[in-house]
Amino acid sequence: MHASNILLSAFALAGLAVASPVEVAERQAAKLRIMPLGDSITEITCWRALVWDQLADAGLASQVQYVGSQNSNPQNCKPATANWDQHHEGHSGWLAVDIANNYLTGWLQKTPADIVMFMLGTNDVVRGKSTNDIIGAYTKMVNIIRAANPKTKIIVDLVIPLSIGSSSAINSINAAIPAWAKGLNSTDSPIVIADCSTGFKTSDLRDGVHPNLSGDKIIASRVGPLLLDYVKQSLGK
Ligand SMILES: *[C@@H]1O[C@H](CO)[C@@H](O)[C@H](O)[C@H]1NC(C)=O
Ligand SMILES: *[C@@H]1O[C@H](CO)[C@@H](O)[C@H](O)[C@H]1NC(C)=O
Repeated sequence: MHASNILLSAFALAGLAVASPVEVAERQAAKLRIMPLGDSITEITCWRALVWDQLADAGLASQVQYVGSQNSNPQNCKPATANWDQHHEGHSGWLAVDIANNYLTGWLQKTPADIVMFMLGTNDVVRGKSTNDIIGAYTKMVNIIRAANPKTKIIVDLVIPLSIGSSSAINSINAAIPAWAKGLNSTDSPIVIADCSTGFKTSDLRDGVHPNLSGDKIIASRVGPLLLDYVKQSLGK
C-alpha cells in the first residue's frame, strides 16, 4: 500500500471511531426527513411511535428520520422499536391559522423536510374558527412547505372526531379536504389524504380529544402505509 493511502486509511479509521459532530450531522442530513406536524394529537399521543414501527418493519428506519423542533415522548409510548426517533413538530393547543401565519416558515428553515404529514384544525374548531379559515390556513401551509422545498411530499390527515362539543365543524373540514387537496396536487409535490376519520369512534378517545391506544392504532394504520409509499418512492425502492 502506498504511504499516503495508509495515512488516508488511518484517518478513515479514526473518523469511524469518533465521528465529529459535523460528520454526524452530515450522515443525518443524508436521511430522508419526515416532519410530523400538528397539535397535541401529534405531540402527546403514540401514533407517531407506531408509525415508526412500520418503518422499522419495512427495513427503512435507518434511512429516515423524523424532524422538528420538538424531541419528546410525553405519553411515554413504548413501541416495539425502542430507539424510535422522537422528533416532531406537534404543539399542544396550537391553531392551524397561527402555525400557518407565524411559525411554519421558521420551523422548516430550522429543520427542513422531504415529507410533511399533518393533522390540524381541532383547536381552531374549539376556538370557533370557520372551515374557510382552516382550509385557508392549510393552503398557506402548503405554499410555505413548497417554498421551502418544491419537492416536498405531503400527507394531510382527515381530522379525528371530538366528543367535546359538536362534531359538525370537524365533519365540515373533513368534507372540504378532498377537493382542496386535489386542487393543490402536483407531480413534484403530491398531496395524499390519510383518512383518520372513517371508523374512528369517540370511544377511541381517552379524554374527548386525544386518541387512546385504540385511536393511535387507527391513525397509524391510515398514515403509515401512505408514508411508506412516499419513503419507498423517495428512496427509489
Ligand atoms: C395527487 O396525485 C397523486 C399522484 O398522481 C395521486 O396518487 C393522489 O391521489 C392525488 N391526490 C389527490 C388528493 O387527489
Ligand atoms: C379506548 O378507550 C375506550 C373508552 O374509554 C375504551 O372502551 C377502549 O377499550 C380503549 N381502548 C384501548 C385500546 O385502550
